[in-house]
Amino acid sequence: METGAPMAPLLLVKMLQVARIRGGKKLMGTVEASGSKNSALPILAATLLTSEEVTIRQVPDLSDIRFMAEILRHQGAEVSHPEKGTWVIRAQKIHHQTPYELVRKMRASVCLLGALVGRLHQAEIAIPGGCVIGARPIDLHLRGLEALGCQVKVEGGVVLVDAQQARGNRVNLAGPMGTTVTGTANLIMAAVTTPGTTQIESAAQEPEIVDLCTLLIKMGAQITGQGTGTIAITGVKTLHGCEHSVIPDRIETGTYLVAGAITGGDVTVKRAEPKHLKSFLEKLNEAGVGVEVGPDYIRAFGYPQNAVSITTAPYPGFPTDLQAQFTALQCLVNGRSTITEKIYPSRFMHNAELQRMGAKISHEGATAIITGNQPLSGAPVMASDLRASAALILAGLAAQGETWVQRLYHLDRGYERFEERLQALGADIERLPASAMPKGFAED
Ligand code: EPU
Repeated sequence: METGAPMAPLLLVKMLQVARIRGGKKLMGTVEASGSKNSALPILAATLLTSEEVTIRQVPDLSDIRFMAEILRHQGAEVSHPEKGTWVIRAQKIHHQTPYELVRKMRASVCLLGALVGRLHQAEIAIPGGCVIGARPIDLHLRGLEALGCQVKVEGGVVLVDAQQARGNRVNLAGPMGTTVTGTANLIMAAVTTPGTTQIESAAQEPEIVDLCTLLIKMGAQITGQGTGTIAITGVKTLHGCEHSVIPDRIETGTYLVAGAITGGDVTVKRAEPKHLKSFLEKLNEAGVGVEVGPDYIRAFGYPQNAVSITTAPYPGFPTDLQAQFTALQCLVNGRSTITEKIYPSRFMHNAELQRMGAKISHEGATAIITGNQPLSGAPVMASDLRASAALILAGLAAQGETWVQRLYHLDRGYERFEERLQALGADIERLPASAMPKGFAED
């Protein structure tokens, strides 16, 4: 995380926390999936599209969500959090500028762009930078807005959009890496109040986009085709308030299933949505892990046995956000697995840390080659991003001895009470101050 202002003491304390994992315990039991982070973020942004009250439930308790609430307040919305999981937003009078000091804290704040254009027909929002998983440009978001007739300028790191003359049009969101998830969300939010019909081609088909559309339809938007590659939106004059519950987090669900499998345990995730994890579950099963699926639960049991090859792809393909966790799992099996990353070709920072734990991984371009069946041993390791932090903890669960995962603030962006819930499944994991680490282990 980057912060410009002097660091608040609580934040500093959090930044200095580490996880200590003592490996070798089989994880057994049931855990309930949280609401999806990547649904909740654009959905919270979308509440700015109406002046009426919107209530969002099943919102996970994460630092990214608190950042988003801070941004909504900055835009002028009244934001309250009456009970766990519920946020109430009333955006009666809002303004269109979002500065860099807010945007830089969380890349997903870029989804304010579509909400501000949809509500105010203008936006001025600082462009988030790249991050450790890749360059992460927003050219496709801007190309989409231009196709609607918006005037778009980039000046001093800020994108300025004037949508007064915008009209529905055909827009294609295909880019070099496929489509864009938050770009699709932005364009939908911009189009819901743009006169005429907008047809988005090569739209993202992710369940999180469908969830956003479900909310917008409840708010009075006219949208069809969500969940397919072509989404049509006919602009309406205004949107109104509603209540909505966020879908379960498929990435968190997958992470708990790997936690069970990597320890040869038996873990069931309740309130899960199996159909959102089809390609992941197929690969888990191909790896030899037992998988049982019910209407709203998924159970994974037994150790992985087989080397498998995965290639990440936009939904419904294998999710890039489960790539690091699956890599940790593949370290255990006999044979040679390959992991090809098609969304973020350099999202392999976690592999250097897994190698420090004894994993045998080499790279050829955007493919990681894992020679499995190498015993993992506990080590001090450094999390580079959200999913890497989860993968290192999972590896620690399977390793002999103590693993210390540093930079835990990455984990807190996307996993609610992760170590507490792993403990409930039987893991020996504790969150500790960095000062508890053995001498010489902590980073400077
Ligand atoms: N891209 C472009 N131009 C653009 C936009 C994207 O070239 O204008 C490229 C990106 O550089 C990347 C690919 O297209 O190579 C996909 O990017 P996308 O825009 O789809 O990613 P995103 O919307 O910024 C969301 C999730 C990510 C997840 C990706 C891919 C949220 C808030 N974030 O990001 O989640 O990895 O989709 O599925 O929804 C995470 O939760 O750990 C996470 C990183």
